[in-house]
Amino acid sequence: MTQGELLYSGKAKTIYLSDKPDELIVSFRDDITAFDGGKKDRLEGKGASNADVSAFLFQLLEKGGVPTHFIKMEDPITMRVKRLSMIPLEVIVRNRAAGSIVRRYPFIEGHIFEKPIIAIDYKDDTRNDPMVNDEIIIALGLMTQEEIQTVRAEALRINEILKSFFESIGIDLIDFKVEFGRYNDRILLGDEISMDSMRLWEKGTHTSLDKDVYRFGKGDVMESYRAVTGRITGSGKL
Ligand SMILES: Nc1ncnc2c1ncn2[C@@H]1O[C@H](COP(=O)(O)OP(=O)(O)OP(=O)(O)O)[C@@H](O)[C@H]1O
Ligand SMILES: [Mg+2]
Repeated sequence: MTQGELLYSGKAKTIYLSDKPDELIVSFRDDITAFDGGKKDRLEGKGASNADVSAFLFQLLEKGGVPTHFIKMEDPITMRVKRLSMIPLEVIVRNRAAGSIVRRYPFIEGHIFEKPIIAIDYKDDTRNDPMVNDEIIIALGLMTQEEIQTVRAEALRINEILKSFFESIGIDLIDFKVEFGRYNDRILLGDEISMDSMRLWEKGTHTSLDKDVYRFGKGDVMESYRAVTGRITGSGKL
């Protein structure tokens, strides 16, 4: 692997140029943060867990017909991806109420939505990632109405694939966040899908198997991340 110049270092991943202009190298670090960086730690093996799960789920989605940026793993924490021009939006799909939607609106935690709910936030930490609607997305020049429709449909397709996969391993998929980017004329799924970006509960319970374990001190974070990673990658579903 040829790892080039550092392009961006975020809260949990570092992005490097590669030996090819249209490919990047993503390194999943052991850093974990919550509450907009208010809580920070380094947990050995966290990067590898999230990389493993992301790689697995990207491949599962590709098999289901969802185009992603995933190319291959270079080593346990290093992913080669297509270089996208990221659309600075977080597309959040919710099957059940938890997290910010319970704080902001009168939903009871665990409430099952009749249909999955999509909410889109503008990625800007200095503005606390404000929620946007289609008109705001268009006014900001981020996507056309047509592209918004494509992304919404893609998010729901991703949800169907992930939900039934997690069901098969005894886990309820409560919600997740994805990011998309442009690659030539197409919009592809980028970034990561991991315990940092999904809310997962042990089937039929409210027991967290994701970053909420870290956020709210619900137990041994790495024990939980390792156990979930094993259930996902050992599922035999790829
Ligand atoms: N295929 C890709 N091509 C280009 N950039 C990407 C790709 N996949 C993910 N990214 C971007 O790389 C960065 C990943 O780093 P990380 O997730 O650690 O950042 P972060 O601290 O969460 O900050 P951010 O708010 O920018 O996501 C993100 O900005 C993400 O949008
Ligand atoms: Mg990020």
